[in-house]
Amino acid sequence: MAKAVTTFVCQSCGATSSKWSGRCEACSEWNTIVEEKPLSAGPAKKSLGAMRGNKIPLSDLSTKEAPPPRTASALGELDRVLGGGLVPASAVLVGGDPGIGKSTLLLQAAAAFANSGLKVIYISGEEASAQVRLRAQRLGLQDASVKLATETNLRDILTTLEAEAPDLAIVDSIQTMWADNVDSAPGSVSQVRAAAHELTTFAKSKGSAVIMVGHVTKDGQIAGPRVVEHMVDTVLYFEGERGHQFRILRSVKNRFGPADEIGVFEMTGSGLSEVSNPSALFLSDRGQPAPGSVVFSGIEGTRPVMVEFQALVSPSPHSQPRRSVVGWDGSRLAMILAVLESRCGIPFSGLDVYLNVAGGMRVNEPAADLAVAAALLSAREDASLPPETVVFGEISLSGALRPVTQTENRLKEAQKLGFSTAILPTGGKSPSVKGMKLTSMGDLTAFVGDVFGAG
Ligand code: TYD
Ligand code: MG
Repeated sequence: MAKAVTTFVCQSCGATSSKWSGRCEACSEWNTIVEEKPLSAGPAKKSLGAMRGNKIPLSDLSTKEAPPPRTASALGELDRVLGGGLVPASAVLVGGDPGIGKSTLLLQAAAAFANSGLKVIYISGEEASAQVRLRAQRLGLQDASVKLATETNLRDILTTLEAEAPDLAIVDSIQTMWADNVDSAPGSVSQVRAAAHELTTFAKSKGSAVIMVGHVTKDGQIAGPRVVEHMVDTVLYFEGERGHQFRILRSVKNRFGPADEIGVFEMTGSGLSEVSNPSALFLSDRGQPAPGSVVFSGIEGTRPVMVEFQALVSPSPHSQPRRSVVGWDGSRLAMILAVLESRCGIPFSGLDVYLNVAGGMRVNEPAADLAVAAALLSAREDASLPPETVVFGEISLSGALRPVTQTENRLKEAQKLGFSTAILPTGGKSPSVKGMKLTSMGDLTAFVGDVFGAG
């Protein structure tokens, strides 16, 4: 009989190796490697091809099945992110930093789906039932017909769920679940993987939807393995800045709807309330136009969202100037600084650069390039953009401005919020927006010359 081999698994990235070391070679994290026993250490099997399996029935692509019936809840922002409501038998993973409001969101979701007629079971592995009841009371949800339990033993949980056959089971959190057939501690990669696998299989075989909470690591990934993200149908991230009350639920993967959709919530004293007009919210504390501040008309998922970019440029006391970004991609910032320097002759060397997206929002679109460039120039030249102006456009490495998608939607949203001027790239479909002054430009040099009279 072959010896049972143990493997060493990095708890941060899930990489495996045959020996222990202090630092993971794959992700360079320290002290994350833990010894784990494999699921079953049986004798080595013959290759699969040598043994006959069962023949799988095949079907055509042209099935007559209706699209899965979805259940909408009273939480419109959650339904939107799910792609229009909860799909039966789907497995959903919700990730987010500790304390961001995952348990609050899911308790509200549990009540909302129960009120829509679903049978809902909420299982907490982290809080005592009394604690959850107290929170429900505080949120005014004590009368919702949600069944509650505190348990971490996965075998007991699955047995209960099978007996009860709920329409929706919520498991908070996957890191606290303990599968007794796996020989490692709760929260380890093997346990998380096994728990996610068991719960997903349960969802598929019994037709119950399952929503799992997953904690995230320091660098913002769902703790444990990426493989969990592959197993489930939908992965949502609940994000927000600590100091802000806004919370954004973002879908990064959705087999039943568009990815990159966002739902916006506000954390209040009585739970999360929905924000159906995020643009107004993100721009709400904007005063007079100031140097370094530029409004970007973006698209998040299927709807336009306006956000404010703020830049600060100051002489650097260090030999290596600082580049600090919040809410945008740092390497994209480096690229735009390089384009400004080599195509427009505007150097940023010797200057510290700070870039921030107001309101705790994260922007991922390349369409924000021009707004970023405008904010940087405006900060550097200490000159503000004309009032009531929005900016969008992608910048290529040659300094050319590229048209972006959904120009018309971006302009209409800007107009709705009282903006009268837009600076955008030439080319693309000409938008039909009445009453708005559109200034289109072909490259960044023209933009620098026209707007700041420099370059
Ligand atoms: P929680 O849902 O427990 O976060 P997670 O499950 O992601 O760890 O939320 C905890 C935070 O939310 C806590 O700091 C208090 C705050 N909160 C409110 O501001 N208002 C509320 O009504 C509730 C229930 C929580
Ligand atoms: Mg929690």
